[in-house]
This record gives sequence, structure tokens and C-alpha cells, in this order.
Amino acid sequence: MTQLLRSRAELRAVLTSLPRPVGLVPTMGWLHDGHRSLIRRARSENRTVVATIFVNPRQFNRAEDFSKYPRNEARDVQICAEEGVNIVWAPPVDEVFVPGFDTTISVGAIAMPLEGAARPGHFDGVATVVAILFGLVGAEHAYFGQKDAQQVMVIRQMARDLALPTQVIACATVREPDGLALSSRNVHLRPAERAAAPVLRQALLAAAAQWRLGERSGEALRTMLRSTLAGVPLAQPEYVSVADALTLGELDRIEGTALLSLAVRFGSTRLIDNELLEWPG
Ligand code: PAJ
Repeated sequence: MTQLLRSRAELRAVLTSLPRPVGLVPTMGWLHDGHRSLIRRARSENRTVVATIFVNPRQFNRAEDFSKYPRNEARDVQICAEEGVNIVWAPPVDEVFVPGFDTTISVGAIAMPLEGAARPGHFDGVATVVAILFGLVGAEHAYFGQKDAQQVMVIRQMARDLALPTQVIACATVREPDGLALSSRNVHLRPAERAAAPVLRQALLAAAAQWRLGERSGEALRTMLRSTLAGVPLAQPEYVSVADALTLGELDRIEGTALLSLAVRFGSTRLIDNELLEWPG
């Protein structure tokens, strides 16, 4: 049975009666098969599964993005029920950020480049809300998508530094048949933008292929990413990156596991994707 809960108090009360281990799947709703894959993994590894649905105002840079974020709670709860989630916690804003709330968790160097540079304050918002969720749920395991690779790294750093007992588990990116990573934001793409959007994946695969052929220059791979994107006029690149997979520092030479990542705008919709180049090739 899936219980839909709103308050911190109900969440805590119901959790005490459910068996351990507990798996937590934090989301902002508008659930798709990427979220489903996290829930399934959590279902297979835990006796109790908690999914949260909370569009976190603190992680949006622009109020407009927050208000535009797609929402359909009834459908989300239905999906959670299909997947055997025990608790859906879908709180109002003041049950997460209680009146008088005045703490920000700000992760250091790993949160600075890439998404952190492009979206100032974004990871403060993410780290702060995830710390609250970890504290409230006290799960043994929490599941996040590799699609947001830097987000996983920021949350791991936060959990380790604050000695939070929840283990952070990264799950593979789920894609459309044409390679586009599933994202709640895809709903905003116009038909021509949707048709062009697989270029993110194509650029990553082209660069990964060069790497497998022996290319070890970071700049050569960044050029490859840029030139693939340049072939699609609707795609406006925000950044392309070939970075150390542990530090996210940009690489001149690839001499260990690297993360290829990019952020691209299609009109007003911003998409990200990434590919890990595991060392040794
Ligand atoms: P949201 O965008 O709803 O994503 C929830 C989780 O689903 C994240 O861990 C994300 O990486 C994962 N996810 C999204 N698309 C995916 C895909 N195509 N394949 C696999 N996993 C995918 O990320 C957030 O919400 C928020 O920042 C949150 C962590 C909930 C904090 O507010």
C-alpha cells in the first residue's frame, strides 16, 4: 500500500512502523522512466521505499523556472503505487523549510565548476534540501541518477563531510530510443527542438569514440564536442567539458577516468548530459 503524506510529523510516525532497510528516492515530480529506474533499484534493495516529490524553490536560479516546472502529483503518486513505493512524501514548502529556517549547506570545490558555475546557488539549494531529506528519512540508502553526475558528487561530498549515515547510490541514465536522456524538462521542447536534442548524446558518443581510438588530449575532445553541436543550429552550447572524474577539473591530458559533460540550450530549455570514460580504456 502506498501512503501519501504531507507533514514531517506524519512521515516520522509512519516510518517508525515500517521495516528496514529504507531506500530513499528524492524527486521533483513529473516522474518518467528515469525516476522509475531509481525506484525499482530502491525496491529491489530495501524493505521500505520512500519517494519524495518536492519542487525545491531554493535550487532554481530564476523564479520563472520554478513556476514553469511541470507538475502532476496525481500521476506521480500513481506511478509510485505501480512501483511499490511505501511512502510518497509530498510536502508543502513550509514543511521542508520550516518557519524561521536559516541554514544553507554549501559544498566546496566539487560544486564550483560546470553546473555550479552556470547556475549560481543551485547546488546550495540541492545540498540543503537533500540534507533535510536525509535527516528526516534516515534511510540506509538513497538513489540518484548519473544523468546529473555532478549532483551525485556534490551529495556524496556533503553526506561524507557531515557524517550522514545514508549511502549514496548512483544509477545509470535512462534514455529515449534516439539517445536523448529522459528529463522532466524535455516536455518544454518544441517539435523541432526535440528532433535536434539527441545531438547531446551524439556529441558525447563521437568524443568517446575518439578517446577509444587513443585520443588523450582534453582540448581535442572538447573541440569534437563543440563541432558536433555546431552542426545543429538550434543547439546553443553553454559549456562542454572534459574533466577529471574525481575533481571535475578540466583536463589537458587524459590520464585517468574522465567525465565528458555538456549543457546545451534549445530555445528556453536547457539540457545536460554526460558520459564517463573509464580508465583504462
Ligand atoms: P529530479 O530532476 O526530479 O530528478 C530526481 C532524480 O532522478 C535525480 O537523482 C536525477 O538524477 C534522476 N534522473 C533524472 N533523469 C534521469 C534519467 N534520465 N535517468 C536516470 N535518472 C534520472 O534531481 C532532482 O530532481 C533534484 O535536484 C533533487 C535531487 C530531487 C533535489 O531537489
